Amino acid sequence: MPLSLKDPYQRRIDYLRLSVTDRCNLRCTYCMPEEGVPRLDHQDVLNYEEILRLARIVTRMGITKIRITGGEPLVRKDILFLCANMAATPGLRSLSLTTNGILLAQYARGLFVAGIKRINISLDTLKPEKYAMITRRDCFEQVWEGIRAVQETGFAPIKLNAVIMEGINDDEIEDLARLTYHYPFEVRFIEFMPFQSDDGHNRFVSAEEILERLAKVAPLLPAMSENSNGPARHYRFPNALGKIGIISPISEHFCHTCNRLRVTADGKLRTCLFSMEETDLKTPLRQAASDKEIMEVIYGAISRKPERHELDHRVLRKCISRPMVRIGG
Ligand code: GTP
Ligand code: 5AD
Ligand code: SF4
Repeated sequence: MPLSLKDPYQRRIDYLRLSVTDRCNLRCTYCMPEEGVPRLDHQDVLNYEEILRLARIVTRMGITKIRITGGEPLVRKDILFLCANMAATPGLRSLSLTTNGILLAQYARGLFVAGIKRINISLDTLKPEKYAMITRRDCFEQVWEGIRAVQETGFAPIKLNAVIMEGINDDEIEDLARLTYHYPFEVRFIEFMPFQSDDGHNRFVSAEEILERLAKVAPLLPAMSENSNGPARHYRFPNALGKIGIISPISEHFCHTCNRLRVTADGKLRTCLFSMEETDLKTPLRQAASDKEIMEVIYGAISRKPERHELDHRVLRKCISRPMVRIGG
């Protein structure tokens, strides 16, 4: 019987975001500079055996949900092998994936068979030229094809993530939300977070402003969510097939309900997205530490999980020790 894992603020920790690679096939402006960021050495990245062992250890501690992230997780070799094996981890109730969608058309079926049923896909715009500008790659059609492929395959829920940036895609808030009239997707609007590699402009748009704009499209009704500990608040338009999610890490942080841990591709445990502190799990994994010893290291990190972050949109991005691509969102 897995334990109930609590931090010092009595938050139940049951969710791990596991980054399997720092590589990405896009160069989103809000995530990294054009030239990319220095890549991890191959030997510094946890191998599949290490990742699967870690999954077995954390599920014994009380983690019941794992989300695979990147960089872009689908660029990692043999990712379907990892997903299928991870899905078989005893005690794991939900295995999900966050992707940029570029490779989804080719991977949708395989991921579904491997045991992934929940998928989140980045989509910041519905205009191909703007997509090319934001991501620095001309791949809108490919991503849209991937989104349709996961829908046809039967994934649920399908969440589309749009990071809203002033002067870039804030003119599309309404059109992105209107997708929910035609598709059963959850369209999520995310406040832009001041990470290391944005383009230097303050492009922050608050959740409040986004909600005001949405309320002019149609009345926004509160909607239920199966994931009350997640970062999103949920709404829907009357008669829409899909839902709307608002993620406001900056203007109204959700730290008090935070249920998550993160592990980076190089095996560093982060108990807060914005934290400067990381706990090394790779070294004990590689130095033949026992499961119990690794659990002790993880308990230690959880005992230091910050109560909340102190960021607001004016705070400089130097507050965060890694670029987003190296954390996995
Ligand atoms: P589910 O709720 O399981 O669907 O997943 P999610 O929303 O946590 O995952 P996703 O990968 O789609 O992340 C969406 C956005 O929420 C990204 O911009 C993340 O960086 C942000 N986010 C996720 N978790 C946290 C968190 O703990 N703190 C903050 N500040 N932002 C987060
Ligand atoms: N601010 C807000 N969200 C971001 N993401 C990546 N960088 C940022 C940022 N600076 C989001 C992506 C993706 C998720 C994993 O993180 O849109 O959907
Ligand atoms: Fe939790 Fe840190 Fe995210 Fe706040 S910023 S919700 S404490 S992980």
